[in-house]
Amino acid sequence: MNIDHVAIVVNDVDKAASHYKNILYVHEVKFETIATEGVKLAILKLNNARIELMEPINDDSPIKKFLEKNGEGLHHIALETNNINNTIQNMNNCAIKFLGNVRTGSENTKIIFIHPKSFHGVLLELCEYAK
Ligand code: CO
Repeated sequence: MNIDHVAIVVNDVDKAASHYKNILYVHEVKFETIATEGVKLAILKLNNARIELMEPINDDSPIKKFLEKNGEGLHHIALETNNINNTIQNMNNCAIKFLGNVRTGSENTKIIFIHPKSFHGVLLELCEYAK
């Protein structure tokens, strides 16, 4: 598996993106809104992975609740798999707990979240790119 992205919750995605861009000299930044998750993203492309900055766009967004409770900070780590359904099946055999079902994430990936209790307190995402 590869680390695909590290996701960070921020108050203002435009400001945060220009900060990251300027300080880290990231040239490629893409913005995307995922209405179903209630977030606006800034995707910063590094050489080997991405950083996703996430700002909630409505009060129902789970990211909004996270921000109110914890403030800005690390939200999840995403691992890329070639076949998300196979990975889910294997993990189910190990009694790993998933949060919800497979859905569409950033850049049209198929994603699913894994309960932090199944990974030592870290929220993990699995993602698969369209082939
Ligand atoms: Co993610």
